[in-house]
Amino acid sequence: MVALNGRDLLSLADLSSTELQELLQLATQLKSQQLKLRCNKVLGLLFSKASTRTRVSFTVAMYQLGGQVIDLNPNVTQVSRGEPVQDTARVLDRYLDVLAIRTFAQQELETFASYAKIPVINALTDAEHPCQVLADLMTIQECFGSLSGLTLTYVGDGNNVANSLMLGCALAGMNVRIATPKGYEPDHEIVEQARAIANNKTEVLITHDPEIAAKGAAVLYTDVWASMGQEAEADDRFPIFQHYQISDQLLSFADREAIVLHCLPAHRGEEITEAVIEGPQSRVWDQAENRMHAQKALLASILGAE
Ligand code: CP
Ligand code: NVA
Repeated sequence: MVALNGRDLLSLADLSSTELQELLQLATQLKSQQLKLRCNKVLGLLFSKASTRTRVSFTVAMYQLGGQVIDLNPNVTQVSRGEPVQDTARVLDRYLDVLAIRTFAQQELETFASYAKIPVINALTDAEHPCQVLADLMTIQECFGSLSGLTLTYVGDGNNVANSLMLGCALAGMNVRIATPKGYEPDHEIVEQARAIANNKTEVLITHDPEIAAKGAAVLYTDVWASMGQEAEADDRFPIFQHYQISDQLLSFADREAIVLHCLPAHRGEEITEAVIEGPQSRVWDQAENRMHAQKALLASILGAE
C-alpha cells in the first residue's frame, strides 16, 4: 500500500507519479470493498470557504475508516477573531491527528503546515484543489481503464482546479490543454512546474481557442467562471467567458467516446449547458462520489491505516 505516513498534501506536486498511481489504485480497491482499512484517528476540518462535497466526503471517509471528525468552522473558533495561524497550528496539532484546510492564500496553508507537526491536507486554496483532481483522475481511470496518453481539455477560468489538473495530468502521463480567455490563464509557475513534470513526453498546452483545445480530447472539463472570493467580478466576467462553455457544439470536437467532468457546484447555462451536464457523456455524479473514495485512500495512506 502507498505509504504517505505523516506527509502533507499541499499541492498535487507533493506526490510522485508512482505515489499518485498507487493512491488511485488504493482508492479503487476501497471503492470496490476489496480492501477494508481502519484507523482510530481524529481529522479536523478548518474551512474558511463554503463546501458541500469536500466537507461531507472527508467526514464520511473518516467515519468509514473508524475515525472521528471535528468541523472547525472559523466562525466558532478563535480563527475568525484573528488568532495567528502560527498559534492555531501549534495548538490544534496537540489534539488532532490530521487537518484538512480550505482557505484563500496557498501561503497561509503553507505557513499552517510549517507550524503544525501533524499532516495537513489542502482542501482547496486559490491556487490548488488537489483532492478534487485525485477524484477526477480516479473517474477517468474508471472510464478508460488507464490514464497514460489520454488528453484532458479544460475550458474556462485558469483557476485552482485548472492548476491542479495540469499537475495531475502531467504526473499521470496525460496530455492537458487549458483554454481560457486572455488574461485568465492558469498560474504561470504551475504551468512551468507541470511542463517540468511532463518532461516533453506529454503536452501541457495553454490556448485561448476552446475548439482547438477540445479536438479529439477524451475528457472535457470545466468549472465556474468566478471562484469563491471572486464573486464581485462575476458580472464583468460573464461576457468575457461566453465562448468558454461546454455545450453540445464544443463536445462535437472531442472524441466520440469523450466524457465530461465538472468539479461542481455547476452554473448551468454558464460554463456548461443543461443538456451536457445531464447528457449521456456526463460523469459528474461518479466524479463527486469518487471524492470520498480518493480522500479515504489519502487519509488511510497518510495515517497508516491497517
Ligand atoms: N468540488 C468541490 O470541492 O465541492 P465543494 O466546494 O462543495 O466542496
Ligand atoms: N474553482 C472553484 C472550485 C469550487 C469547488 C472555487 O474555488 O470556487
